[in-house]
Amino acid sequence: MEEIRRAAEIIAKAKHAVVFTGAGISAESGIPTFRGEDGLWKKYDPEEVASIWGFKRNPRAFWEFSMEMKDKLFAEPNPAHYAIAELERMGIVKAVITQNIDMLHQRAGSRRVLELHGSMEKLDCLDCGETYDWGEFLEDFNKGVIPRCRKCNSWYVKPRVVLFGEQLPQRTLLTAMEESRKCDVFIVVGSSLVVYPAAELPYMAKSSGAKMIMVNAEPTVADNIFDVKIYGKAGEILPRIVEEVKRFRQT
Ligand code: APR
Ligand code: ZN
Repeated sequence: MEEIRRAAEIIAKAKHAVVFTGAGISAESGIPTFRGEDGLWKKYDPEEVASIWGFKRNPRAFWEFSMEMKDKLFAEPNPAHYAIAELERMGIVKAVITQNIDMLHQRAGSRRVLELHGSMEKLDCLDCGETYDWGEFLEDFNKGVIPRCRKCNSWYVKPRVVLFGEQLPQRTLLTAMEESRKCDVFIVVGSSLVVYPAAELPYMAKSSGAKMIMVNAEPTVADNIFDVKIYGKAGEILPRIVEEVKRFRQT
């Protein structure tokens, strides 16, 4: 496909490429996306299950929603994640900025991952401040037992994922902004680009003169800022782009 060749040619020449991902890159790992016809926000009210005020009102709703996703929360990386890790190993991709909390980029071998919306790795008790590793609750969680503070018995044990109404991790966001400004190629994979401030980053890259590439199942509100747009499944398209990049790099 001509678009794949064009994308590969740009990426092969990149000095400092940055990849920006959303839920769509993990869709082929079995993790549902948020928007689109069978998106999670069609079934659940994000206010109730994914906002900080919803969590404080009723942590059970957040955990039941997460348990619905449990077999998805611990999915495996798919070929799209591996393709991005390969581009980092080739010295082309210098950072992955992700909105996802599934840690699949790291498990696929990406080393520099900026998690704008945090991850499930660590949890904090909002009452006594005790901190936990996700591993301490995983067994219970898989049996449907809601995490409870071991120290003060509170139900308000919250993973360090950014819920609606919460600040993004500032240092991570600043580093992501820096990367978006200094990159010469910005590759968006699997995001509807509607949630801010994350969705600001592609525009920052564009205004800094980066070449813009998008791989997504459907058009997005930001399509007009991209030099190359490839519509389809990330798990199929990204490995083909990497193969083409290798060909360009041999010549
Ligand atoms: N390959 C490529 N793109 C895909 C695939 C796929 N296999 N499947 C779905 N997509 C696309 C969809 O077309 C959609 O445009 O991925 C995009 C996913 O968009 P969202 O579901 O809105 O996910 P995202 O952009 O990551 O949402 C941002 O919103 O709810 C909050 O915090 C949550 O991080 C999330 C943020
Ligand atoms: Zn506690």
